[in-house]
Amino acid sequence: MTSPSTTLSLVDTDPAELAVDAIVIGVHSTTGEQDATSGLAGTLLLASGAESIAAAFDGKLTETLALLGATGGPGEVIKLATLGTVTAPVLAVVGLGAEPSGAAPAPETLRRAAGAAVRALAGAARVAMALPLPDDADAADALRAVAEGALLGGYRFAGYKTRPQPTRREPVAEVLVAVPDAADAAAQAEVTRARTVAGAVRRTRDWVNIAPNELRPPAFADAVAEAGRAAGLEVEVLDEVALREGGYGGITAVGQGSEAPPRLVKLTYTPDGGGTGKRVALVGKGITFDTGGISIKPAQGMWEMKSDMAGAAAVAATMLAVAELKPSVTVTAYVPMAENMPSGTSYRPGDVITMFNGKKVEVLNTDAEGRMILGDAMARACADGCDYLFETSTLTGGQVVSLGKRISGVMGTAELCERVRDAGDAVGEPAWPMPLPDDVRKGMDSDVADISQVNAGMDRAGHMLQGGVFLREFVTDDVAWAHIDIAGPSYHSGEATGYWTKGGTGVPVRTLLHLIDDVDTNG
Ligand code: BES
Ligand code: MN
Ligand code: ZN
Repeated sequence: MTSPSTTLSLVDTDPAELAVDAIVIGVHSTTGEQDATSGLAGTLLLASGAESIAAAFDGKLTETLALLGATGGPGEVIKLATLGTVTAPVLAVVGLGAEPSGAAPAPETLRRAAGAAVRALAGAARVAMALPLPDDADAADALRAVAEGALLGGYRFAGYKTRPQPTRREPVAEVLVAVPDAADAAAQAEVTRARTVAGAVRRTRDWVNIAPNELRPPAFADAVAEAGRAAGLEVEVLDEVALREGGYGGITAVGQGSEAPPRLVKLTYTPDGGGTGKRVALVGKGITFDTGGISIKPAQGMWEMKSDMAGAAAVAATMLAVAELKPSVTVTAYVPMAENMPSGTSYRPGDVITMFNGKKVEVLNTDAEGRMILGDAMARACADGCDYLFETSTLTGGQVVSLGKRISGVMGTAELCERVRDAGDAVGEPAWPMPLPDDVRKGMDSDVADISQVNAGMDRAGHMLQGGVFLREFVTDDVAWAHIDIAGPSYHSGEATGYWTKGGTGVPVRTLLHLIDDVDTNG
């Protein structure tokens, strides 16, 4: 299943003369005094890029916007008919918040504004963005942000409705971004990259949003393998027999309760000529549905556990983008997939499981299944050999409790955690480093095995940290690693906002791609 796609290209025609269905410009809010004549608070300030449009409105644009109730606040989109003043029949004015102290708004401000504008213009076929783009060293970041925001705001999951929806407006089909020189090679390269990156995010969203009965582990593995082969990646799929015989006790245990057996998909990208020699491993949690198993979850909200494969989707989609972007580092993804179900064949609390690296784990709660499949996949990544290991998963409700729905939790080797935080800041996917305390590890001592899967007292203290502490047991000392808990940020249950649509968000695809770039450039 693929959602309708949006195309994007550059133009350098004067925005006032562009033959499109709508033109998007930006407006800043100001904190200025109340206007003496109109009585309106402050004066709006049109952002750069809007000059020719403002001229066509004969200087009356900010006044008109104020009359229409515009505040310039982030996420606000005001649409007005242009009535022949400019070629496009509709003008959409998107709020950019207060005017930045530097030359241009932050990339994430532009990304969200572009997304909000494209969503507000659903139903229009062709839309042009005339947003403020600096012409200095920040130009590339700004252009990339506008392009990504527009492509992601134009996402809509195809869904399953059997009847046409007469009142539903189709997502914008084509976006043009107004730049000073559309033929500029650097600008073109940013657009090419943005298309690839947004394509990976959209693919992740599709995989997350698809119904869980349609994406059980064998089907998910087939979809990832097929996409991987089409992209030119090396693909290996371990089925339930290979997993059992290969010693993947964690994946086997979690998968054994379901009629749909588990899988481990390995995708490899090798740079031409060997590249820099650095090896990056990616691991993503692929629980296609998490009922909790024998330690079953409450019914309320359980449907959202169709998104418990968001880490797997992000890692697999990142690999598809890697195949296009061709970095000079080796990148290998390990994607364990299982459905966590209660049945007569389920694993149970009290079971002791031998993991891929030989460690024995005492199961205390079958709902802590993610770490079981991830431990095996991470140990396999280390056995194959890697320098950096990035693992991402919807691992704990504790992540949502401590950091909320926007900020991922990061645990691992200190330096790499900082790099993940920096990457997240750079792409607008915030992530916060968290510790791996000794007392949390102590609480996971098992009476019978090497480690308990969760705190033996079933105590929620340091809930998110228990996940990181457990996963550390499956990484060898020579590997720099980071665990990115995306339980909150990977799925958006509220109304669309900025470039986030309802459902899967695609976090942390853009962070992973940035990190691969970082390793490529800086080692
Ligand atoms: N998939 C869940 C975590 C989760 C919770 C993801 C909310 C997204 C939103 C995970 O498998 C889980 O069930 N974790 C338990 C761990 C506990 C049993 C130690 C949790 O968070 O309660
Ligand atoms: Mn669970
Ligand atoms: Zn889970």
